Amino acid sequence: MYTEKVMDHFSNPRNMGELENASGVGTVGNAKCGDIMRIFLDIDNNIVKDVRFKTFGCGAAVATSSIATELVKGKTVEDALKVTNKAVMDALDGLPKAKVHCSLLAEEAIHAALWDYAQKNNIEIEGLEPPK
Ligand code: FES
Ligand code: FES
Repeated sequence: MYTEKVMDHFSNPRNMGELENASGVGTVGNAKCGDIMRIFLDIDNNIVKDVRFKTFGCGAAVATSSIATELVKGKTVEDALKVTNKAVMDALDGLPKAKVHCSLLAEEAIHAALWDYAQKNNIEIEGLEPPK
């Protein structure tokens, strides 16, 4: 049911934890399953220097958070914004249908953290919508 990559990121999550004084923090939840994901970004000179996640949720949500942190690390703010749930799923070699929304949570958490960063610094990031 789960790919090797999902199992790997679930059993050995990357960048788990928090960042003190993060440039941006985003918390999102899925009302249906009740799972919650929080992403911390450290942004310097428009580059995502560091990233951590905390996820209270299912194994797939842990795996999507973990891979999402790897995908945004080192990227510019603009490129981090392009890390979609599809990119997250592709990087995990796919997810079962019932778990697709877990990858959406990762995309939303990144966007929410970028939004928080933009608000704090009074800047606009092109294409970034306010979190719902
Ligand atoms: Fe998240 Fe079952 S809904 S573990
Ligand atoms: Fe809801 Fe995974 S079951 S985030």
